[in-house]
Amino acid sequence: MHFSSRIPDGITENAIARRLRTLRAEGVELLDLTEANPARAGLAHPDETLYAALTSASSCFYEPLPRGLPATREAIVGYYAADGISVDPEHLHCTASSSEAYSMLFKLLCDAGDGVCIPQPSYPLFSWLAALDAITIQPYRLRYGSDDTWSIDMTSLEMALDNRTRAVIIVNPSNPAGNYLRSDEFRILDSLCARRGIALIIDEVFWDYPLNNGSQAGGCALRQRSAGAEGICLRFTINGLSKSLGLPQMKLGWILSEGEARTRDAALARLDIIADSYLTVSTPVMHAAATLLARRPLMQNAIRERCICNLRQAMKILGPAILPVSGGWNAVVALPENTDEEAAAEILLRTRHVYLHPGDLFDFSDGRYFVISLLPDPQLFRRAMQRLLAFLSGLE
Ligand SMILES: Cc1ncc(COP(=O)(O)O)c(C=O)c1O
Repeated sequence: MHFSSRIPDGITENAIARRLRTLRAEGVELLDLTEANPARAGLAHPDETLYAALTSASSCFYEPLPRGLPATREAIVGYYAADGISVDPEHLHCTASSSEAYSMLFKLLCDAGDGVCIPQPSYPLFSWLAALDAITIQPYRLRYGSDDTWSIDMTSLEMALDNRTRAVIIVNPSNPAGNYLRSDEFRILDSLCARRGIALIIDEVFWDYPLNNGSQAGGCALRQRSAGAEGICLRFTINGLSKSLGLPQMKLGWILSEGEARTRDAALARLDIIADSYLTVSTPVMHAAATLLARRPLMQNAIRERCICNLRQAMKILGPAILPVSGGWNAVVALPENTDEEAAAEILLRTRHVYLHPGDLFDFSDGRYFVISLLPDPQLFRRAMQRLLAFLSGLE
């Protein structure tokens, strides 16, 4: 049987996954620092609220609209209006998730074999999403500077571009490094993409979670938002309920298309064709969107406070091993040079029952790191930090 080369043959379990399976089968209590779902970390919306939001009588009727129901798009307009940003509902396409939004944009912009520039380090799904659409990734670096901040290495981005590049992807704030896009970076990217006739895709799923290096105020002053920004290139902003409300199970994301009117409208019409071919977004969640988005302040405050509390705890216990983080749900732990990240993560799991991701999963181009989620229950998190401290002391 011929199977598409989009999915590689012989995917094998690594040592961490094998160890995890064994420990779970033995019933060992693990301190899980990979948790990415707020509900599993005790930050769930009440069940009744979710049931009530999903039981609109209108959900019994099907309206196959490629951009999504007008009321849903108005609710998304309201999400931006709450931050003083004006968005045209006709420039929005609802999607089933942010991941699907990427796939739709790849179909819009790329032929098979074309490329998109992605940040490194970054969230590991990009290579899969690109492969599934038969395109290539062209990595550029995020640089950790002497001022202890991450920024886009513009030289490496220029070097990653070639005549098959169709888009530059920015994650704002990045995951897991946690740096927000700065306004000066945005201006450079906007004119670079306009000059080359390529698109800018900005993923803002973690926008609402500034962590300011663990302080409630200050920091992040220069962060530049994509949605609603003045710009000249064709630009797409991706977001969704998965992160903005901690509701990955609802499967509702969106794409906001902006840029010079004629190009933007051509993109919107083509996105209609892509969306219309699948019509993936479920009617009940589209009707629930306004009610769910009204819970934004409550949920986001709870998630942000949890992340800040855990980040402070991590900084107190691990000190400078925790790299500064401006936003998002993760933090990065620096390891001694020459540490084998994957082997170290497996030993940590086997001997101290702390489960975390090694940095190589996120393709850090230099240095050695662990990546930890800031979502877990604070008591569990503190115990995990103490075990991690003991483990790191043994590595030095
Ligand atoms: C930066 C980033 N974008 C998008 C996604 C995917 O989100 P969704 O659940 O909406 O597909 C993730 C998931 O972790 C992410 O980290």
